[in-house]
Amino acid sequence: MSKKLFLALFSLVFLTTLPALAQSEFRQLPAPDTTGGKPLMQVLNERKSDRTFSEKPLSDETLGNLLWAAFGVNRPDGRRTAPTARNVQDIDIYVLMADGAWRYDAARHGLLRVSKKDLRNHLGSQAFARKAPVALVYTANKKRTPYSDMHAGSAYQNAGLFCASAGLHNVVRASMDKTALEQALGLADGQEALITQSVGWGD
Ligand SMILES: Cc1cc2nc3c(=O)[nH]c(=O)nc-3n(C[C@H](O)[C@H](O)[C@H](O)COP(=O)(O)O)c2cc1C
Repeated sequence: MSKKLFLALFSLVFLTTLPALAQSEFRQLPAPDTTGGKPLMQVLNERKSDRTFSEKPLSDETLGNLLWAAFGVNRPDGRRTAPTARNVQDIDIYVLMADGAWRYDAARHGLLRVSKKDLRNHLGSQAFARKAPVALVYTANKKRTPYSDMHAGSAYQNAGLFCASAGLHNVVRASMDKTALEQALGLADGQEALITQSVGWGD
């Protein structure tokens, strides 16, 4: 085989397989239940932090409702369940579970795999954070807007209210191994883990 032919074949194989390799595994979540739940005043009355968790995983229905409540798309123009300054929509939510780590794709209401590893060991020293079946990690690039922390707060409050409605336990947590977690999630340059939230059923 000539050198030219070999290079042409090599480039063809390389260029056709590269995009396939780069494509992440996608996990579609069931459409959110946007009509259910307890009345708002009752939910506010029941909102609290609770640090006791069983290891029972969340169903995809419950996980989907949780993520949609936190920062899902709730209007045809793509706007979200939480407000953001100038509609910048700068928050990306990562989901840490026993089966790996995922990024919430709100537009498709599904999860994109970012790691096959259980990254809950990067959540700091509180042991319950490794036991809770789900940890949400709210991330943003603070160079895009000075309001990222506020946006994350709106989203974690939405998620916390959903938990109160669904009978789930949750606690917002600033404690984490920030650099290790950001590296393990493969966050882009400038993207930061701002805050986490452990979620699960009670023990
Ligand atoms: C920004 C923020 C960071 C927090 N970090 C932690 C944490 O690292 N670990 C923890 O156990 N609780 C953490 N909490 C939960 C608070 O301790 C809790 O909200 C507070 O004690 C009030 O209790 P309540 O949520 O039941 O009203 C945090 C809460 C917020 C809002």
